[in-house]
Amino acid sequence: MRLFASYRTLKVSIMSRVLRFASAGWRNPRQARRAIAALVMAMLLLLGWATPAWGSGVDPAKLDESTQLWQTSAHALNNVNCSSCHQADDTKAFVAQPGIESCQSCHEQSVDTFLLGKHGIRQLEGASPLTPAMARLPMQVAAHDVQMNCSTCHDVHSVNTVQAAVDSCLGCHSDTHSLNYPNSRHAELFAADRSLPRPSAASVSCATCHLPRHELKVGSDRVTQVNHNNTYTLLPRDRMVQEVCMNCHGVEYSYNSIFDDDLVEANFDAPPALSLETFDLVRALEVRRTDQEGS
Ligand code: HEC
Ligand code: HEC
Ligand code: HEC
Ligand code: HEC
Ligand code: HEC
Ligand code: HEC
Repeated sequence: MRLFASYRTLKVSIMSRVLRFASAGWRNPRQARRAIAALVMAMLLLLGWATPAWGSGVDPAKLDESTQLWQTSAHALNNVNCSSCHQADDTKAFVAQPGIESCQSCHEQSVDTFLLGKHGIRQLEGASPLTPAMARLPMQVAAHDVQMNCSTCHDVHSVNTVQAAVDSCLGCHSDTHSLNYPNSRHAELFAADRSLPRPSAASVSCATCHLPRHELKVGSDRVTQVNHNNTYTLLPRDRMVQEVCMNCHGVEYSYNSIFDDDLVEANFDAPPALSLETFDLVRALEVRRTDQEGS
């Protein structure tokens, strides 16, 4: 197997690929796409684009794959390069497997909220990352020792958030509620988002309910940020009603669904059978209001 011993051999390899594509001609769209990608890489290299020195321990196939995934990502479009994550800020040393700290400088809010939920709180306390082995809920056996980090849900090179919103969760969670999600109307709506880089606001993924979006004002702009605290909408139990369900459903429908244990277990695969009295609803809303005023 050929290894990229240094940045220089990587450069030579990319350059020779550009020449190969240029002489072969663009016979099919796939080849054309790869040629364009190679040209982009070559231009970046010619412009003296900072690349960390990949050690000989790095598998060239992985290097290729990472580069291809990154090329069309939101990061590449915003000039977030290999070195933005694979180089330590202070020592400039090459980092093969960057951790949370590599995201922190640019995504402070995501890191802060992640550390407050069940998924991240062990790390806030300085303990090792959470793994399914530590769980009380049923988990996928194959994921037993997978550590919870930013890169566990996010493919860090494509940063495609559609994959992160359902597939990643089901890589670990295997309780009845989670496994039933694919049978729901919500999942049908989400299927329409599969081709997007970002879930649309019209569909409901695991993340819609458990990592809800918030609109924030930054200067004169409104930006949407994801609350990565996965405990937040669970406590108190009806917080999810106002945070999530009422963006699309009425108050009565939402409360009747969320307090119906069987329906939660079935991941909302049918209209609610429960019928809370209007009186109970008013009281529930009243409790929420005084809670909010008090906090
Ligand atoms: C947004 C941050 C980020 C950017 C940008 C980034 N990487 Fe990575 N990369 C990571 C993280 C985090 C890991 C560790 C992945 C993991 O733990 O699964 C990683 C792992 C890798 C690996 C090892 C993969 C493996 O499975 O062993 C390679 C190779 C790699 N990156 C190459 C690149 C190249 C080449 C670029 C630029 C084209 C790049 N990365 C850009 C964050 C990034
Ligand atoms: C040098 C700054 C920088 C670093 C480091 C960085 N990002 Fe980003 N990231 C950005 C910018 C800029 C965007 C695009 C604008 C936005 O959505 O905020 C972005 C977007 C994203 C998105 C949203 C993609 C989308 O389709 O909307 C995710 C997910 C993401 N980053 C994850 C990570 C993770 C995980 C890490 C660490 C492994 C990381 N980023 C490191 C700057 C950075
Ligand atoms: C690396 C495996 C892993 C992945 C991926 C993962 N989780 Fe978890 N999650 C866990 C573990 C472990 C727990 C703790 C369960 C326990 O203690 O019984 C947990 C707990 C939870 C809880 C309960 C929180 C609480 O406070 O009780 C929710 C909700 C949750 N996860 C939702 C999600 C969603 C949604 C996704 C995808 C966006 C996801 N998880 C992805 C491993 C994972
Ligand atoms: C449990 C899975 C999971 C983990 C762990 C996770 N994310 Fe996310 N993240 C998501 C999902 C899903 C979305 C998109 C949700 C949506 O758009 O509805 C997202 C969205 C984002 C975005 C774009 C939206 C925004 O708020 O700017 C960024 C940036 C991001 N994550 C960074 C991170 C960083 C940094 C970490 C580590 C601290 C992290 N994520 C850990 C699942 C996860
Ligand atoms: C429409 C909203 C919604 C969707 C979609 C959804 N959930 Fe849930 N989830 C809930 C509600 C409500 C609860 C139960 C809260 C309670 O019992 O207090 C819950 C509970 C959980 C719990 C258990 C928490 C505990 O401590 O018992 C996990 C884990 C979880 N969900 C994961 C997922 C995963 C993974 C997906 C996607 C495959 C998903 N959920 C989809 C609303 C949703
Ligand atoms: C982004 C919008 C949206 C959000 C947020 C949302 N839903 Fe839905 N939900 C829908 C749509 C659309 C349907 C399908 C309605 C139909 O078939 O007529 C649906 C269907 C349902 C159904 C009936 C399923 C069936 O098979 O008939 C229940 C129950 C339900 N949602 C409960 C909830 C609960 C509880 C929440 C909050 C935890 C929630 N939904 C959040 C849009 C949403």
